[in-house]
Amino acid sequence: MPEENFTNTLYTNDNLFILNGLNSDLVDLIYLDPPFNSKRTYSAPVGSKAAGSSFKDMWSWEDVNEAYLETLAANYSNLTKYITSIGGIHSKAMSAYLTYMAQRIIEMHRVLKDTGSLYLHCDPTASHYLKVLLDEIFGKNNFRNEIAWCYTGPSGSKKNFPAKHDIIFRYSKTEDRYIFNYDAIRIPYKELHTDKGKKAKIWGEEGKLQNQEIREQYVERGKIPEDWWNDIPSGGHISPKERTGYPTQKPLALLQRIINASSNEGDIVFDPFCGCATTCVAAQQLGRKWIGIDIEKQAVQILIERLSDDAGMFKDFVATQLIPQRTDIQVVQPSQSIKERLYKQQNGKCNGCGNEYLMKDMEIDHIIPKAKGGGDYYENYQLLCGSCNRIKGSRPMEFLRQLIKTREAMMENQLIFGE
Ligand SMILES: C[S@@+](CC[C@H](N)C(=O)[O-])C[C@H]1O[C@@H](n2cnc3c(N)ncnc32)[C@H](O)[C@@H]1O
Ligand SMILES: [Zn+2]
Repeated sequence: MPEENFTNTLYTNDNLFILNGLNSDLVDLIYLDPPFNSKRTYSAPVGSKAAGSSFKDMWSWEDVNEAYLETLAANYSNLTKYITSIGGIHSKAMSAYLTYMAQRIIEMHRVLKDTGSLYLHCDPTASHYLKVLLDEIFGKNNFRNEIAWCYTGPSGSKKNFPAKHDIIFRYSKTEDRYIFNYDAIRIPYKELHTDKGKKAKIWGEEGKLQNQEIREQYVERGKIPEDWWNDIPSGGHISPKERTGYPTQKPLALLQRIINASSNEGDIVFDPFCGCATTCVAAQQLGRKWIGIDIEKQAVQILIERLSDDAGMFKDFVATQLIPQRTDIQVVQPSQSIKERLYKQQNGKCNGCGNEYLMKDMEIDHIIPKAKGGGDYYENYQLLCGSCNRIKGSRPMEFLRQLIKTREAMMENQLIFGE
């Protein structure tokens, strides 16, 4: 989807497939609030029903995770080592979760413009592990803030301090070109609110105590919020008018602050785990364009109702399950000359089993299947032998790799038994 023809779009699908089909350098701001449920048993990639179905019958999530890691290893060797080690330090489930997140964050980084920012909303269940992942994908110098969103409410905790904050990591794609509209997010100084008429101390931004006149200017302008936010009530306190019934709904005020700070009017705001579309609603209200994705059909239903409800504001959007096709890569149909180029590049070996074949016995395959966001472009082609190509079908490479591995292990066992 080229930016000129952009239409606000809500996708119902696995966000990995949609991400695969989005152009690079497309969006200005990404906010994501992914699920994390550590008690879940990972029989399939978290939440990704579509991806899961091709694996579910055969392997546990840990197996799938290993195969995905092999794919990551080619380009992100440090990341792969890190994720693998977390399997021993924390748990296999955490390592599986990080793999799932890594694949998606790598794609998010690709679709983000150079002036763009990403906000990842999480909590201490996984925040420390996710921070390392983000440092590796975005570069540690592009870490901008760890925002603690603090709230209060009843707690049954008797052995611990009640856990009442979320973490929002803020990263920029580049070190010096990112948008930060600090004047658009100023908030009142607290002391002056409460001590009206009294002499409150106001420090200037250079850290100097200010005189009365300057003080008044400061009061009027308000301050840039610190990296802890306690002025936005939590989900549990969302007003009945705003509430949709979606269990993990975030308040509009939270998204408004993020969107105002890190995007300008007309920019594209993207939420790949959009739930009941809080981000899309806030973006629309603030004159931004938007893309939302959620895998749950139920979420989409709520979203459509929410968007349609809002005083007729939302007429121009598309709701679809279809995977977009990238238009920023040259489309080339498979041909004999492509085959020859690939044959040379792969040294005559099948990319699945690794065995050598004559060119006539090889077939061109889409590495990322078209049904999962892959397109007709050179980088997405490879040669497989007939047997590997039939096994893979329209599934991802991980499927083929895992199957080959399982077969090899079985052969080895047979050999040992045969002795
Ligand atoms: C914590 S909720 C997001 C809530 C959202 N911020 C809001 O205000 O409503 C996480 C969402 O991610 C969705 N999800 C999980 N895995 C997904 C995937 N692979 N692709 C797209 N959405 C996914 C879930 O259906 C869920 O709605
Ligand atoms: Zn093969």
